[in-house]
Amino acid sequence: MSESMIIATSLQELWQALRLLEGPLGLVPTMGYLHEGHLSLARRARQECRSVVTSIFVNPTQFGPGEDLSRYPRNLPGDLQLLEAAGVDLVWVPTPEVLYPPGYQTWVDVELLSQPLEGAARPGHFRGVATVVSKLFNAVRPEKAYFGQKDAQQAAVIRQLARDLSYPIEIVICPTLREADGLAMSSRNSYLNADERRAAGVLYRALGAARAAYERGERHAAALLQTMSAILAEEPLARPQYLSCADYDTLAEVETLNEKTLLSLAVFIGSTRLIDNIVLG
Ligand code: PAJ
Repeated sequence: MSESMIIATSLQELWQALRLLEGPLGLVPTMGYLHEGHLSLARRARQECRSVVTSIFVNPTQFGPGEDLSRYPRNLPGDLQLLEAAGVDLVWVPTPEVLYPPGYQTWVDVELLSQPLEGAARPGHFRGVATVVSKLFNAVRPEKAYFGQKDAQQAAVIRQLARDLSYPIEIVICPTLREADGLAMSSRNSYLNADERRAAGVLYRALGAARAAYERGERHAAALLQTMSAILAEEPLARPQYLSCADYDTLAEVETLNEKTLLSLAVFIGSTRLIDNIVLG
């Protein structure tokens, strides 16, 4: 751990700063507006690595045309304070021009895992994620990289990309941190007004009810999905986009639960789109 936190913008500044850090190096990629979920990844990296690098970059290529890129929440001074307190050594805050200079034309596409669920709802999203994460890996060259289970499909896509592109990087997936009512922490929760914030608790209640049915012995995906739908239907502000019961590794929908099943959902609360998931088995 170095004396005081270094902040880099350009690739040259990043590489210069990296020369000062001892390995093993842990990388925590983020889009900023940090909350305890992000910080839990940084703390885990702090425990497991000699030096910790966090990137803050609202990656334009993972946002679709009608999505929230222009209003995505930002608070760089606050983020830097939190990262310094968490013991992060180096924060890389590239501008869009650093990562996507004029004439940029190279993309990483994890073909199959990018298709269902979030990929179907947000075409091109995972191409943007896989591309920027590859670029972060190449620029920082960490031994370990930390991601949250909150974004389960993203975690699967990144594990696959690390394998397929032979990155010598261990991908560490950390548990989802939640608010007191179970709502998964997310930078996008800041979009919710008071009524919507109260309504947003329904996502985790739906997952919890499905888990309870599973623990009573229910193994039919359709029954679990029906349980979740019924809970969501009780909340007038909630508009489900998809509910899924899928194989944890392939993300293919299952009819009967196997050893490891991903139960996930995307729900609009007012105009804010929230996602959450739990793993059964
Ligand atoms: P962002 O949404 O900022 O999330 C950064 C990391 O924090 C991701 O790995 C995400 O899964 C994790 N995270 C978010 N909420 C969490 C929670 N409640 N508990 C635990 N971990 C949580 O995900 C992205 O940014 C981007 O797609 C990125 C990977 C940085 C590529 O642009």
